[in-house]
Amino acid sequence: PETYDFIVVANRLPVDSVTDEAGNQSWRMSPGGLVAALEPLMKSTDGAWVGWPGAADVVLEPFEHENIRMVPIALDEGEVERYYEGFSNDTLWPLYHDVIAQPSYHREWWETYVAVNRRFADAAARIADQGATVWVHDYQLQLVPGMLRESRPDLTIGFFNHIPFPAYGIFSQLPWRQQIISGLLGADVIGFQRVADAGNFTRAVRRLFGYETKGTRVWVPVGDSSDATTGDRSHIRGAPVRRVIARAYPISIDVTSYVELAQKPEVQARAREIREELGNPKTIMLGVDRLDYTKGIGHRLKAFGELLAEGRLDVQDVTLVQVASPSRERVASYMQLRDEIELTVGRINGDYGSIGHTAINYLHQGYPREEMVALYLAADVMLVTALRDGMNLVAKEYVATRADLGGVLVLSEFAGASDDLRQALLINPHDIEGVKDAVMRAIDMPVAEKRRRMRALRKRVLENDVIKWSRVFLEELKHSTTAHPVSH
Ligand code: G6P
Repeated sequence: PETYDFIVVANRLPVDSVTDEAGNQSWRMSPGGLVAALEPLMKSTDGAWVGWPGAADVVLEPFEHENIRMVPIALDEGEVERYYEGFSNDTLWPLYHDVIAQPSYHREWWETYVAVNRRFADAAARIADQGATVWVHDYQLQLVPGMLRESRPDLTIGFFNHIPFPAYGIFSQLPWRQQIISGLLGADVIGFQRVADAGNFTRAVRRLFGYETKGTRVWVPVGDSSDATTGDRSHIRGAPVRRVIARAYPISIDVTSYVELAQKPEVQARAREIREELGNPKTIMLGVDRLDYTKGIGHRLKAFGELLAEGRLDVQDVTLVQVASPSRERVASYMQLRDEIELTVGRINGDYGSIGHTAINYLHQGYPREEMVALYLAADVMLVTALRDGMNLVAKEYVATRADLGGVLVLSEFAGASDDLRQALLINPHDIEGVKDAVMRAIDMPVAEKRRRMRALRKRVLENDVIKWSRVFLEELKHSTTAHPVSH
């Protein structure tokens, strides 16, 4: 079997299946930032990507797409329910986002999570060259680093957590907390979005295992047996240790492609057309999110509704476009959220709209990148009100597209992006009065101040794109393994 020296392991493959009118199936590269970051590297080295094709019972042989080796992992219907919808998105997702929704703990889900993680790990181990680098991504696959460390100690293993890592008081709810930490500690470098996330992780390591940590370094006893199912670890004092780095590497977007799209005459024309189609209001406000309870869409609607009710805003002058792309639609908390949001949108439109003036243009659809960029260009105020978000790339996309220095970003301090984007109007989404004041301030902001803020924001985003992010992470990974096991 063929082997590779750089392997990405992620829940999803970076391709979407498309079927044309004649019924022919083909693959199209999905537009995510991660693909953009890793594509050049994957093509120049011998790269492979291990991931799920995104639908149940799809069994596929490995294939080549745009010079990248795709290694599909099949999940049956029950596995999709218990590993993906269940443990990943109804246990870990709400838990890691500070229990905004109640996490469900089910032993069968955990067992399937272990089994599916094992399948991903085995697939990576099978195709990895001697001494290869394996980069594992996100909360769906936290056991993979530990499993790989066991089966293939020759590998260099990186892990990046794209979502928040919660404080110990919350994390400790998880009945399988030890196994998860053990799994992650199989990596040489564990990356997080924010400094606070990395701190929460190292605290969990100390509390659960008593291992020594200092700053971003963790010393893990070598050769201690760790069992993915029980999480038991036994270690002997004075035994050799392996150094693990746990650090923040804030992710970004493929800046160049957004900047270029925003310069296209047809995209700019579409932005003007959107304004016209909305009736040329004085102010267009925009929200763009996956329909997820972490995004604070309800809080945003509440603030907007109150501003209309109080007469501080008028539908003659302002409209809110809310793109809420469908997500995880079979998970109960997502169905409930959809009902709540759609009820609220309907009420606000019914109470405050008039003929020809809709308060909220609600779109439960996904759109191609061109259309998103046109919306960003058309929007005077961008609302990011997440209650908890690992990073929030929409905020960075908006900033990247606004080379005209127009537009105001209202940004939740609970999104990782707020660590970097200090020149946004930062808000606490729970403070509805504060959100309302920020919206009014954004609408009334003098042009000079808008430009000054946007210029500063753009500097941050343009300096830190996703290609740099992956370079920094992989550099650290390379250096981390040159000297271990270290004695300490
Ligand atoms: C977040 C997660 C990703 C995930 C994405 C979409 O950004 O960090 O791992 O892929 O949401 O969610 P989905 O469940 O559709 O993959």
